[in-house]
Amino acid sequence: MRTYTNVKDLGDLNAAVKEALEVKKNRFAYKSLGENKTLLMVFFNSSLRTRLSTQKAGMNLGMNTMVLDINQGAWKLETERGVIMDGDKSEHILEAIPVMGSYCDIIGVRAFAQFENKEDDYQEKILNQFIQYSGKPVFSMEAATGHPLQAFADLITIEEYKKTARPKVVLTWAPHPKALPQAVPNSFADFMNEADVDFVITHPEGYNLDPKFVRGAKVEYDQDKALAGADFVYAKNWAAYADPNYGKILSKDMSWTVTSKKMALTNNAFFMHCLPVRRNMIVSDDVIESPQSIVIPEAANREISAQTVIKRMLESL
Ligand code: CP
Repeated sequence: MRTYTNVKDLGDLNAAVKEALEVKKNRFAYKSLGENKTLLMVFFNSSLRTRLSTQKAGMNLGMNTMVLDINQGAWKLETERGVIMDGDKSEHILEAIPVMGSYCDIIGVRAFAQFENKEDDYQEKILNQFIQYSGKPVFSMEAATGHPLQAFADLITIEEYKKTARPKVVLTWAPHPKALPQAVPNSFADFMNEADVDFVITHPEGYNLDPKFVRGAKVEYDQDKALAGADFVYAKNWAAYADPNYGKILSKDMSWTVTSKKMALTNNAFFMHCLPVRRNMIVSDDVIESPQSIVIPEAANREISAQTVIKRMLESL
């Protein structure tokens, strides 16, 4: 595997989940794979789970790991070609990327949507420059339009907790005070559309996601109807995708918060969220603290999704 940016990069999805569950059973079985190999993790944005779980995954595989925070201690990077660099940016990304590539064997990149230009965001300009110019296998640690390590961990978690062969999985928009990218819901939809689940997306009108990710999924604007009979409720906020409102907050309607009243509509569903989560905006305290909340094992599976992806990259070196 040379790149990991979406569900297709995993090939046979059932086989990938099976492999992940094998990795989970004995996460130190592949320690010799990463001997004398270096994982570089490059962060343009903050992180708790991705940073720790991916570093742990690399260490489980016997790798040396290095972390670079672009906005803390590194030179400010210019990302546009043709710019006269007379401002505060000291280095161009076109030199920085191959230099970073020369120090490592595999690179993980986190670079969120900027919400300045939809085309730039949806072309994944920064992630794709790493793929093009680093000379090394590159995986997304959440880029502008996707968070495939999160979605893979989500699918592994659903596989572990499901009680029926084909569970109903509902992705619901929920309110948030800030404009958030569509990366997590995009990748969740990307994975659920390929998994053996009954997948429904619910959000207020105006919050439709990119059709490239929604594909054949059912979209229901009535949250209560969508939640009826759900086995898994996956809550997430995102800002508007559609023009002319790209990146804007259209609603903070608190009637979309996932409360115990909402969960009572479901088939005793498990509650999921990628974290970090704003309590009593996205989800009420009692729901996230309930026995049906699986946000902690879901986060723990980030180590497993990362390890499975890095393992495959090491095997292809
Ligand atoms: N879910 C997730 O990616 O968490 P972090 O932003 O803390 O890495």
